[in-house]
Amino acid sequence: MVSSKNNTHGVIESLQTEVESFPPPAAFTQAAQYGPEIYQQANADPQEFWAEQARTLHWHTPFTKTLDWTNPPFATWFEDGELNVAYNCLDRHIVAGNGDRVALYWEGEPGDRRTITYTELLSEVKKAANLLISLGIQQGDRVAIYLPMIPEAVIAMLAVARIGAVHSVVFGGFSAESLRARLDDAAAKLVITADGGWRKGRVSPLKPAVDDALDLNPGTELTVEHVLVVRRTENDVRWEEGRDLWWHEEIVEMDAEHTARPFPAENPLFILYTSGTTGKPKGILHTSGGYLTQTSFTHRAVFDLRPETDVYWSTADVGWITGHSYVVYGPLANGATQVMYEGTPETPTWGRWWEIIERYGVTTFYTAPTAIRSFMKVGREVTQQNDLSSIRLLGSVGEAINPEAWLWYREVIGAGSAPIVDTWWQTETGAIMVSPLPGITATKPGSAQVPIPGISIDVVDDEARPVPNGSGGLLAITQPWPSMLRGIWGDPERFQETYWDKFGDKYFAGDGARRDEDGDIWLMGRVDDVMNVSGHRLSTTEIESSLVSHHSVAEAAVVGAADETTGQAVVAFVILKSHQTVMTDADQAAVILKAHVGAQIGAIARPRQIFVVNELPKTRSGKIIRRLLQDVAEGREVGDTTTLADTMVMQSISQKVR
Ligand code: WTA
Repeated sequence: MVSSKNNTHGVIESLQTEVESFPPPAAFTQAAQYGPEIYQQANADPQEFWAEQARTLHWHTPFTKTLDWTNPPFATWFEDGELNVAYNCLDRHIVAGNGDRVALYWEGEPGDRRTITYTELLSEVKKAANLLISLGIQQGDRVAIYLPMIPEAVIAMLAVARIGAVHSVVFGGFSAESLRARLDDAAAKLVITADGGWRKGRVSPLKPAVDDALDLNPGTELTVEHVLVVRRTENDVRWEEGRDLWWHEEIVEMDAEHTARPFPAENPLFILYTSGTTGKPKGILHTSGGYLTQTSFTHRAVFDLRPETDVYWSTADVGWITGHSYVVYGPLANGATQVMYEGTPETPTWGRWWEIIERYGVTTFYTAPTAIRSFMKVGREVTQQNDLSSIRLLGSVGEAINPEAWLWYREVIGAGSAPIVDTWWQTETGAIMVSPLPGITATKPGSAQVPIPGISIDVVDDEARPVPNGSGGLLAITQPWPSMLRGIWGDPERFQETYWDKFGDKYFAGDGARRDEDGDIWLMGRVDDVMNVSGHRLSTTEIESSLVSHHSVAEAAVVGAADETTGQAVVAFVILKSHQTVMTDADQAAVILKAHVGAQIGAIARPRQIFVVNELPKTRSGKIIRRLLQDVAEGREVGDTTTLADTMVMQSISQKVR
């Protein structure tokens, strides 16, 4: 044990590691729904613990089996049980008498607002479910959703879930090409989109991107039969009779009654694409019962949810896993009241988020370190224009939060007292895996700290041996968990290879981690070719492929360089083809190639910098040594070059960059 002492500010300083730690405030420990015994209870019998959590849901047919792990890495949870995910998120709250509770306080970027109760949300979802059925969507069919952050995104997801179909939400920032690749991979029958969404005071067109995606001819057969279009921004859109349908015209025709029928616990709920180490995104598959069990439990426990009084706000877009698990399924399964906001934090001013918090009395706020760092840059003055005293709990997700940002977040947004839950998890894990619990854990700035109850995590070396406290290694999940991915859509081998071959019987997360002297876990970033830009995962290989697909580019190497605001930024080094005549100088090349990547993958993948070079640093066997490029990109002295085939290469690259 590390000895601790209280200093005058009530802050406990660890004498040995000198890491401050913040004990849970009395308001949390006294009223906590869960006490420290929850860890013992879960450790004693993790499966029984999860079965108990699962029983907090409504099962049309109760399960008798908890986990089947006889065919690893393919798990099933609660396999013989039947439930309806949308029923759990809506109907049962009405049955319990909570229909008048606000489900969503929605605010559009231009300032338009909608308040939607659980009863109203259910009614919209029923109509949408009937609409999907009228379009021939059945259990197991894939429906792509390409929408801005408007209530229809939530309604569409729940309607798909309600009829046992599978949604594939594609983030609105992805390009037509990326969208098409996802539509084809999942063989989607229907796309639900909008004319556009509001971003930074402008219309970000979506329907035109869908049109482009469907017009492309990538050599695969188009499976999409209909495009359902929500009217949001009223920009002009092309219309294909027979294929395209307006949501508002169709929905009014629909019956407002729809009875949710039960589906097996392992019925697929959604596919969500995420970047991997190769160029092709992986379709991460999640199913119903286990996923809803862990998202609802973690949303309750990690955010200390009090559904009657809390107003919860996660700033995540539904295009990412955080939007799935902690905007849609976890909060709605728990009957929470939440805020949903369409636009960007700086529109019309950097005060926007804080006005929203004051307007709705947000108590629980969940965002990403990159956003916090942006606000640190803008200065605390903008946050001081509004009354943030309703806030009692803060959450962070997407990347490790640096201690400076953690302390700023607590002091400036959390009035120096709100606990911060730093939550580590992934698209693949479906729900939070490592996080403090606010009524129990003394929090440490920068550390996600402890596995949540019922979850087994270890930090191991390359041979899967647990490392002692005080050492670093790789993060591994050592036991199956309810919301684990059930596979990669259409690619069981890649599932096995990517996550299970490394350790054999443990899940390899792709993250480096360290245990401190107390045994607390600190995440150290990716150990593979995945970058983390503003909390979004991008693959170096995918961006390299995009660059070399340009006819003027001969070779490309991409690295994630440290960036003050976004965590990492995409920096590319390209060699142009010697006979190309399109690009006459390096600046022009950078402009053209940034636009090219933006068009191919999406604006989020656009490199911050592109350097035109004559050579790339390679080993004798021809492997690019990205570590050296990263040194250059981060403005450091270039490291060990002895393994290079040509040791002069780095000098020439450094000169170009300067
Ligand atoms: C990183 C987002 C440190 C990590 C939910 C992980 C984090 C990847 C944290 C997953 C955190 C996410 N501390 N690193 N609290 N949260 N990460 O799939 O590298 O978009 O593997 O899921 O983000 O990103 P994904």
